[in-house]
Amino acid sequence: MFNYLFEGTIIHCPERLKLDVIENGFLHVQDSKVKYIGNIKPENIPSNTVYYKLNRYQFLIPGFIDTHIHAPQYPNVGLGYDAELLDWLKKYTFPTEVHFKNENYAKRIYTYIVSRTLKNGTTTAAYYATIHLKSTIILADIAEEKGQRSFIGFNNITDCAPPELLQESNDVSIEETEKFIQTILDKNNKLVQPIVTPRSALRCNEDLLKRLGDLAEKYQLNIQTHISENKKEVEAALEAYPGYKNFADIFDRNNLLTKKTVLGHGIHLDENEKRTILERGSSIAHCPNSNVCLHSGFCDVRDLLNRGINVGLGTDISGGCNPTILDAIRLSLITSNGVSFSKPEEDNYKPINYVEAFYLGTLGGAEALRIDDRVGNFNVGKEFDALLIDLNSKDSPIDLDLKCEDDFTTKELFQKFIYLGDDHNIDKVFVAGRCVVEDR
Ligand code: GUN
Ligand code: FE
Repeated sequence: MFNYLFEGTIIHCPERLKLDVIENGFLHVQDSKVKYIGNIKPENIPSNTVYYKLNRYQFLIPGFIDTHIHAPQYPNVGLGYDAELLDWLKKYTFPTEVHFKNENYAKRIYTYIVSRTLKNGTTTAAYYATIHLKSTIILADIAEEKGQRSFIGFNNITDCAPPELLQESNDVSIEETEKFIQTILDKNNKLVQPIVTPRSALRCNEDLLKRLGDLAEKYQLNIQTHISENKKEVEAALEAYPGYKNFADIFDRNNLLTKKTVLGHGIHLDENEKRTILERGSSIAHCPNSNVCLHSGFCDVRDLLNRGINVGLGTDISGGCNPTILDAIRLSLITSNGVSFSKPEEDNYKPINYVEAFYLGTLGGAEALRIDDRVGNFNVGKEFDALLIDLNSKDSPIDLDLKCEDDFTTKELFQKFIYLGDDHNIDKVFVAGRCVVEDR
């Protein structure tokens, strides 16, 4: 259990789409949970409390949440963006995932990706792994050891992939998934959870989807999959599932659209699908970098938010070329501007702003994964998942001495971090109170 008192600037989204910038504030963490946040210095602080006095260029923010990331695809980051989704999977992605049969290789790559994302402030990640049971458990072990809050997805793939990446049958796929779920639940580690992961509609079949929906219900688990990422994929999915109204219907009628479902991408959803997703309380993992790198399209996040659909951000490594949520925040802003260019002037369409993008990368992600009762902001009672930001750190990419007369305001400094910052500015990373990354 960890006890801290921070004095200085604290920035978070206390509720959906709202930003609080608390200057000269106090954040008291007791037993790894937020006990107090506000401007009055708390009294009766236990003597074993670690005190941090922040300077003008330092502030605390909640940890970033990556709602969609493929851990085994890390070796491919930056490669293969000449292709669109379906060819990219065949040409680059599946051949890489085949190697995760080798547990030593899995250990090496999974150590890299967990370390890299933690260093960049990802305190929670929803990972896809592969169809390899032992290697997927290794990913969970590494997340546990390094202290990253995580959802670990053992993949279900029985169709449309190289033979080495197919589970033998639906029975084997389900049996191994249940074994995986029980192994992770037996860890009894509150930070590391299993997540039911039908890779996509095209890589599974109807019976498998249905049985995975039943498993998720039996264990009350989160679910993740891909939806409506690429137009050719949508066409192929509807061909593979005749009798279904649309892409969302494929998941809906197989009990896979629940409050705990996170759907990657959702770029080309129609009105009916959006209505269904909202009604079921499922969420979208918006992956703006991937959507551009793989030529998939621009997702209209403003529209999803206006409808009340939960949205979080995903790096979609290695569909996306950057493993950080700071990048996803920036690209969500750029994507939203891109969407606005095609709207008629009379629509008065407003692209999302930096406050909304920051919400997506923090509380939005927590809401999507349904862990907003525990993390996502610094409301009293939440577990302390946080980043200590320092704009003046060694090798910071941000120059600060730039104004002629006055200095940047705190909100301006925060925007500098959002648009210019990198891991040099992330001095410490805390997950459930434990400091898992220290200043370099
Ligand atoms: N659809 C099915 N598998 C994948 C994947 O690995 N990445 C992306 N972006 N989309 C997918
Ligand atoms: Fe993906």
